[in-house]
Formats: sequence, structure tokens, C-alpha cells
Amino acid sequence: MDINAVNALSYEDFLEIFGNVVEKCPIIPAAVWIHRPFTSLADIEAHISDFIDSLPESGKEGILRCHPDLAGRELQSGALTRDSQEEQRAAGFTDLQPSEVSRMRSLNSEYKERFGFPFVICARLNTKRDIMRELLQCLGNDPAAERARAIGEVKKICALRMRNLQLSNSPNKL
Ligand code: GUN
Repeated sequence: MDINAVNALSYEDFLEIFGNVVEKCPIIPAAVWIHRPFTSLADIEAHISDFIDSLPESGKEGILRCHPDLAGRELQSGALTRDSQEEQRAAGFTDLQPSEVSRMRSLNSEYKERFGFPFVICARLNTKRDIMRELLQCLGNDPAAERARAIGEVKKICALRMRNLQLSNSPNKL
């Protein structure tokens, strides 16, 4: 489907397809809808990025808080979104040893206690080893720098989800 077809979608269909490009934040594609006609998928992505940047820090933190923990309880109970499930599987989190699960749980708790939002990283671009190392390292960051790093990761996740929409055979495919 090319951009003309995207521009021809109803608002409801647009949201059905793009609703989770930022995890559990359909308000973001809902907000960029006003910028139609889009010139390309990259144009949609740029509007999403601008919208996120325009939010106050509380809004950015809100986006981060919509993300589930990596290797958390929702992964085990099968309660993740399909996107998050796939990303966590790609990074190797569906295949953890019990000791790795407890290590991730304890790092996630420490991180959330320090920053007030879950650790977010583009799981498709990292292995579980990279992620554990990065999580540990980020615990030493200043809160504002950490929020900015995490929002950068949200944008990377969004870019890959948008690319995936084009390629996948899912009901959401373009
Ligand atoms: N990185 C990619 N997907 C996710 C996710 O669903 N949660 C978190 N915390 N990080 C991610």
C-alpha cells in the first residue's frame, strides 16, 4: 500500500493500523492524523517524532510508562501487545534461564524505583546481553538524560514498527 492508500484510509482504519506504533499510545497517531495528506511513511514518522518532542516532560514520561517491563510478568502471562511480544522474543527474552529472569526483575525494579518509568530500549536492535549491560549502565544516568535516551529508543521502536507494518502479513499490514 502506498502513501495515497494510507491517505485514503478512514480515521478508524488508520488508527487500527498505526495505533500501536508507539506502545499503547494510540493518542499519538490520532494526534498526527490532522497532518494528512502525508507525503510518505517517513513523513508520518517525522510528525510522530515532532509530536513527542512537543510534549511536556510529564507527557514523555507518560509514554515511557505505557511500556511493559522487558522480561516482565506480562511476557510470562502472554499479556503483551503483539509488537512487544515479537520484540522481546527477538531479543531473546522468551528464552531466559530462571537466574536471568530474576536478574532482569531486580534490575527493572531498581530502575523503576530510580526513574519512575520502566527501562525502554529498542529490543529488536539489541540482544538480551546488550540490554542487561545497558540497563545496568543507565542506572547511573542523570534522570533528565535518561528520559531523553529512553524517548530516543521509543522513536527507534516506532521506526521499526512502521517498517514492519509494510512488510508483515498481519491483519494490520498496509
Ligand atoms: N523495547 C521494545 N519493545 C519494548 C517494550 O515493549 N517494552 C520495553 N520496556 N522496551 C521495549
